[in-house]
Amino acid sequence: MHIIQTKDYNDMSRKAANIISAQVIMKPDCVLGLATGSTPLQTYACLIDAYKNGDLDFSKVSSINLDEYRGLSHENDQSYHYFMKTNFFDHINIHPENTHVPDGMEPDAQKACDDHNAIIRELGGIDLQLLGLGLNGHIGFNEPDEYFAKETHCVDLTESTIQANSRFFASIEEVPTQAYTMGIQNIMMAKKVLIIVNGEAKADIVAKVILGPVTPQVPASILQMHPDVTLVADEAALSVYNRLRKETNK
Ligand code: F6R
Repeated sequence: MHIIQTKDYNDMSRKAANIISAQVIMKPDCVLGLATGSTPLQTYACLIDAYKNGDLDFSKVSSINLDEYRGLSHENDQSYHYFMKTNFFDHINIHPENTHVPDGMEPDAQKACDDHNAIIRELGGIDLQLLGLGLNGHIGFNEPDEYFAKETHCVDLTESTIQANSRFFASIEEVPTQAYTMGIQNIMMAKKVLIIVNGEAKADIVAKVILGPVTPQVPASILQMHPDVTLVADEAALSVYNRLRKETNK
């Protein structure tokens, strides 16, 4: 795992955007795997700036998102469809038909998941997968579990994730309890993985992801086995990792 430490959130976002920009410049028709959440917001803002400056062209890029809440319409302002449109897609020249977010309104869970897997296959796989990290080590909505889930599937969100996501909803009762998410195999098959993390609250889990045993109890720990992972994290998020590394001389 290649670890890049940044000063703060803005520095993390600029560096992450630079890595994604390099991917788009090197392969204009690349497939970007994208994430939502608060972590990538500034990364998307930097990519929008680069597009507006004429440095990036998304006209041949395809995107595929990690996850979507089950039962939220595309127009719901808490849906990941809405998040991606308003925070990224509407501000760049990506073709809407080349963007793919799991269909939260598809009531048949198996169909929603099969369709998403089929799109990944039809696109020829993911060139670069952007990930955030959950407080409990989740990636996408792959929550701590007894085993690593393979492809896109329907999950029951854990209490800690519902609690963490409730900050975006009027009340905790409104937070959906299920989501469609790519599986660990979908993520591990991406050619490159870029995971971005900021803030002290995630320092313990980041240390486990990098140094701990590979276990489905810390889903992101599987990234230790991926041949091309870059972790871009600020000083605060790497504080526990840096302390443990000093203590153990690793
Ligand atoms: C979002 C996603 C989640 C988030 C994670 C961190 O598409 O897949 O795994 O990346 O929950 O969320 P934030 O960035 O809000 O801390």
